[in-house]
Amino acid sequence: MGGAQGQDARQVRLADAAAQSARPLAPDERRLRGAALNQVRDALNAAFAQRKKAIESDLLAAQLEAERVDVTMPVARREDGLLHPIHQTIDEMIDIFGGMGFGVAEGPDIESQWHNFSALNTPEHHPARTEHDTFYLPRPRADAPEPVLRTQTSGVQIRTLLSNAPPLRVIAPGRTYRADHDATHSPMFHQCEGIVIDRDITLAHLKFCLIAFLRAFFDKPDLPVRFRASYFPFTEPSMEVDIGWSRKTGNIGAGEDWLEVLGAGMVQPRVLANCGVDPEVWQGFAFGMGVERLTMLKYGIPDLRSFYESDLRWLRHYGFSA
Ligand code: PHE
Repeated sequence: MGGAQGQDARQVRLADAAAQSARPLAPDERRLRGAALNQVRDALNAAFAQRKKAIESDLLAAQLEAERVDVTMPVARREDGLLHPIHQTIDEMIDIFGGMGFGVAEGPDIESQWHNFSALNTPEHHPARTEHDTFYLPRPRADAPEPVLRTQTSGVQIRTLLSNAPPLRVIAPGRTYRADHDATHSPMFHQCEGIVIDRDITLAHLKFCLIAFLRAFFDKPDLPVRFRASYFPFTEPSMEVDIGWSRKTGNIGAGEDWLEVLGAGMVQPRVLANCGVDPEVWQGFAFGMGVERLTMLKYGIPDLRSFYESDLRWLRHYGFSA
């Protein structure tokens, strides 16, 4: 049974060692043993730290490998949008008139005949109605008149007068529609209306305001501006406004020719009365202009139809960074 005896002997030695280490040590021996144990501890700590560092750097290397970026790869291109020239022009109009104290008003594209015509002193059977190639929409009820796609932004004058007490000063840019289509007409186009109502407003205010606008818009302080008598049912007197240019070179502000850019006039008292505003107390002027036309002149855009073709090459050429 030598095996069993050998095991017994080892157990006795272990028990003896345990008893020895439990036994209080003499001070000298304690110092020696302590130093040795400290060495063992330091060696273990160092080994542990080294191993930890190795594991961490392996992890980091694996992560770097997984998240590697190839800076030589072509970048996915982000296309920046551009402002369509129409909107650029409308923004400029809002800016310039804003500087003269005008707010911005809006109205619906689908308008009642009353707002688009009647209240603007253009009753049924008035010849001016047939001049606008109007798009009529189906009647909402058998006894109601057909709504129209607004043929002009002038209906916003009516809406503004009905919902705001004077004095007031607004412009109204927006889409307008007429059944007409060729190189210089589009069935959808944009106008910008303007109206000023206050006490003691005269033609001098109208002229100052529109000359100031045109000179700022075309960035030409000496731009020649001419007022020519005309007719609109909702203004009296009415006028068309021309700017000087050269037919030959297309240069704005220089040359012997005139180009019509605006319609305007003193608000016809009947229009004020139709909106419950007393014309004995309040007067004003109104004006309207074609946004495409002014944009074409300012930026030398030759064809009206190009505005609506969404040709990216055209947009990149004429568009504006937002
Ligand atoms: N609405 C007119 C047009 O479409 C323009 C205009 C507006 C004229 C306001 C006078 C006053 O031609």
